[in-house]
Amino acid sequence: MSGPDLRRAAAARALTLVEPGMRLGIGTGSTAAAFILLLGERVRAGLDIVGVPTSEATRIACEREGIRLATLDELPELDLTIDGTDEVDGQLRLIKGGGAALLREKIVAMASRRMVVIADAAKRVETLGAFPLPIEVNRFGLGATWRAVETALAESGCAGRSLTRRRDAAGAPLVTDGGHALLDAHLGAIPDPEGLSARLWAVPGVVEHGLFLGIAGAAILAEARGEEAVVTVLGAL
Ligand code: A5P
Repeated sequence: MSGPDLRRAAAARALTLVEPGMRLGIGTGSTAAAFILLLGERVRAGLDIVGVPTSEATRIACEREGIRLATLDELPELDLTIDGTDEVDGQLRLIKGGGAALLREKIVAMASRRMVVIADAAKRVETLGAFPLPIEVNRFGLGATWRAVETALAESGCAGRSLTRRRDAAGAPLVTDGGHALLDAHLGAIPDPEGLSARLWAVPGVVEHGLFLGIAGAAILAEARGEEAVVTVLGAL
């Protein structure tokens, strides 16, 4: 039972939530990509939905599958968003943005009546923070923003904090779909996610951060038991 099998199992369970006529937010990353493939099969078999992608990569993948797309300008309210996550805790708090799409992901999720995350069960954690927290920042004034973010992290009780700037596959500073820079905060643990969120939002150069708090309604988690992929649900579907 491999990672792709687990991602596909979680995606397949999420697909059962999709109903004809739905306005669907479609996430980014390898688990969302598994969902897009399965959704594409259903669409080609006649399922009528319209999707709003959370990144350029997802837009391209959806177009390849023949999934009809719209923007949030055209559809400001969505029924359901299905997306991956980098971490999820017992209160359905998330760290997202490993794929650099956190800003659009959060905008789309917040425009949805319901957000359901799909993941390998290894993403389930007791305390958020082992995965580096992505922080999307305006490129103007980056040095000053960097210092202010470090202060926010220190005041939030995050030990062992260090910040790095995300780079792309070619080694150049990464620029997000929104034209911003991305910092990764290596924290180990985040004792007070709500407090950290508020402090980061108070920094003018911070566009958004990867803590998704009180947004996801459920998580579909897949784990291997022998040759089987077993799916468990956190929260209510
Ligand atoms: C994209 O920016 C992220 O939020 C992804 O949803 C997250 O990184 C999960 O990606 P995988 O499904 O590839 O693990």
